[in-house]
Amino acid sequence: MEYVKLNNGIQIPMEGFGVFQVRDKEECRRSVLDAIRAGYRLIDTAASYTNEDAVGEAVREAVAEGICTREELFITSKMWVQDMENYDMASSAVDASLKALGLEYLDMYLLHQAMKDYFSAWRAMEDAYRAGKIRAIGVSNFYPNILTNFCETVRVIPAVNQVELHPYFTQEDALKTMREYGVVPEAWAPLGGGRYNPFDNEMLKGIADAHGKSVGQIILRWNVQRGVVIIPRSTRRERIEENMDIWDFVLTPEEMTQIGSLDMGYGDTRTKHFDPDFVRMCVHRKIHD
Ligand SMILES: NC(=O)c1ccc[n+]([C@@H]2O[C@H](COP(=O)([O-])OP(=O)(O)OC[C@H]3O[C@@H](n4cnc5c(N)ncnc54)[C@H](OP(=O)(O)O)[C@@H]3O)[C@@H](O)[C@H]2O)c1
Repeated sequence: MEYVKLNNGIQIPMEGFGVFQVRDKEECRRSVLDAIRAGYRLIDTAASYTNEDAVGEAVREAVAEGICTREELFITSKMWVQDMENYDMASSAVDASLKALGLEYLDMYLLHQAMKDYFSAWRAMEDAYRAGKIRAIGVSNFYPNILTNFCETVRVIPAVNQVELHPYFTQEDALKTMREYGVVPEAWAPLGGGRYNPFDNEMLKGIADAHGKSVGQIILRWNVQRGVVIIPRSTRRERIEENMDIWDFVLTPEEMTQIGSLDMGYGDTRTKHFDPDFVRMCVHRKIHD
C-alpha cells in the first residue's frame, strides 16, 4: 500500500474501500471487516448511505480482533445536503456522524455536494477540524469552476476532492485544477460504478493478460498511477481481495495513454449535476427528521 500526503501533512492510503448502496447493515459490517482483513485501511462512507453505524461496528471488531489499531485506519464520511442549510445544522451533522460511527474522531469528512449553503457548512467543518474532531476536511463533486471559487474564498483549503474518475471519464481538467490548489483527487466509481462494462473491453483485456491481472486491477492501477486515491466497492470477498492486489506491477506510459483514450468526456455525474431535477432531488432528500 502506498500513501499520499495531504495539504495538512497527514497521510492518506492510496486505496480504500467504499460502501455506497451497501444498505444491508450485516452485509456492510461483514464486507468492511473483510476489507480490513484484506489490507484496506481507508473506509469511505457517508451520512446519506445510512450505514455509518455498520462501518463503526466493523471498525471496533477489527481493532478488538487485533487486525489493526484505530490509528492505522482512515475513516471518511460525508455531510449530506440536508445539513448544509446553515452553520448550526452542519455542526450537528459532524457530531451525528461521529455518534453513528461510534468514533471519537473522523480522519476525513467531506461536503458531499456543492449544494445549499456549502460555505456556512464549510465554516462548521473548519471549526470541527480545529477542535480535533476531524483530522482532515475535504469536498466531493466540486467541478473545476466551483473548486476554484471555493479555494479562492475559504480559509482551510480542502485536503481532498472526491469525484467520479475512471477510464471512461478521466477528468484531466479537474485533476489540473486540484493540483493547482494542492487538493488530492479521490476517485469514486473507480471501476465505473457498474456502468460502461469495462470488463468486456478487448484493449483492457489485452493489457490485463500482458500483466497476468484482471481488467478491474488494470483500471484501478491506472488511476493510482496518475496520483488518484481510489475507493472501489464490492460485497464479494474474492473481489475485495482482487481489488487490493494492484501493488506489484506497473503500467507502461503507452498502456496509461491507451487506457485514458477510453475517455468519453462525460460520466454519470457531470451529466446529472447539470440537471436541475437531480439538484432538486438532492436538495430535498431527507436522511433524518
Ligand atoms: N462522493 C460521491 O458522490 C460518491 C458517489 C458514488 C460513490 N462514492 C464512493 O465511491 C465508492 C466506489 O464507487 P461505486 O461504489 O459507485 O463504484 P465502483 O467501486 O466503481 O464499482 C462497484 C461495482 O463494481 C463491482 N465490482 C467490484 N469489484 C469488481 C471486480 N473486481 N470485478 C468486477 N466487478 C467488480 C461491484 O459489484 P459486487 O459488489 O457484486 O462485486 C459493484 O457493482 C462508493 O462505494 C462510495 O464510497 C462516492
